[in-house]
Amino acid sequence: MTGRERQRFETRAIHVGQAADPATGATIVPVYQTVTYTQDAIGQHRGYEYSRTDNPTRAALEVCLASLEGGRFALAYASGMAAIHGATQLLEAGDHVVVADDLYGGSYRLFTKVLPRFGVRFSYVDATRPEEIAKAMEPATRFVWIESPTNPMLRLVDVAACAEIARRQGARLVVDNTFATPYLQNPLALGAAIVVHSTTKYIGGHSDVIGGAIVVDDEELFQRLRFARNATGGVPGPWDAWLTLRGARTLALRMREHEANARQVARFLCGRREVARVHYPGLPDHPGHELAERQMRGFGGMVTIDLAGGAAAARTFCEATRLFALGESLGGVESLVGYPWTMSHAAFPPEEKLRKGISEATVRLSVGIEHADDLCEDLAQACLRAAQGS
Ligand SMILES: Cc1ncc(COP(=O)(O)O)c(C=O)c1O
Repeated sequence: MTGRERQRFETRAIHVGQAADPATGATIVPVYQTVTYTQDAIGQHRGYEYSRTDNPTRAALEVCLASLEGGRFALAYASGMAAIHGATQLLEAGDHVVVADDLYGGSYRLFTKVLPRFGVRFSYVDATRPEEIAKAMEPATRFVWIESPTNPMLRLVDVAACAEIARRQGARLVVDNTFATPYLQNPLALGAAIVVHSTTKYIGGHSDVIGGAIVVDDEELFQRLRFARNATGGVPGPWDAWLTLRGARTLALRMREHEANARQVARFLCGRREVARVHYPGLPDHPGHELAERQMRGFGGMVTIDLAGGAAAARTFCEATRLFALGESLGGVESLVGYPWTMSHAAFPPEEKLRKGISEATVRLSVGIEHADDLCEDLAQACLRAAQGS
């Protein structure tokens, strides 16, 4: 099947790019653990030459991901950061990027510490107010770069409005769609030119494989990205591609469970006096709730909270949970708790974090697919410990 099937998401996740293996009939895409492909004569091969350039297991993943995002082309990378770096290979010295300031710390590190050395300039704006993006645009602006919902404050950014601002100035909108996943949001359909993913998170879904992807609709862009990826080499191995594809097959099921659990957890935490604020786009009083209803098909599995007892309470809370493992990352079937101040957002200076609303009282929850009542019981005992310890 091609990436342009009309079937529904769940069906495409399981079938697109995954026809029975032509060589053996294997129903499941095999792991083509090979570097090279024997040629019938010099230059005569069957579409594959060398696995940095192309590999059949990786190709299956790419065709599937393109279909799930509603684009024509996808490229898999060795990590989300490799994909993000891959997208920036479209830039040249002198180019300018307008970036939403509420973004993943690793992207911020790349944009502040690495790419400026190559002459690319970045301006940071509050993208929840698209007029701020419009103000920051320059003749040299090539990309507008956003995440929605943002990490970790779960703010909503109007993807269609940003795409229109970028388009008017001849720039491209890039959306990091890691938090939303293609199941809940398709930025290309909202006008974005490039979608990036850390497939390490929900798409892989089991916290056992690092990976990334870019999805585009424009063939010229795809060819340039593909050339750059082959030239720089940040590809996933076949096993990693296979594990990611296996994860993608159940993305819809898992996202439904993540979301149902996150809603229950968010409502539960709203009722706890140890919790000063709950940030979850599914709550009707969340400032981005209506926008989320418009541009997403659900609210996702991430919940961020501010503990009433401040830094000490937040730290105690993070160390007190039993089912929520304290760790970096998100999007796996198991629940995780993170402390953005020193973990995912360590790369931001303190004043920057505070400006974004991340304080020492902020805790990020990646709500897994365990039973929601067990998760709430775990959070309840962590709340009590936080109140005692702070
Ligand atoms: C929104 C977002 N984008 C990109 C990345 C980077 O992905 P990876 O860790 O796979 O390189 C992360 C990692 O946490 C992320 O949260």
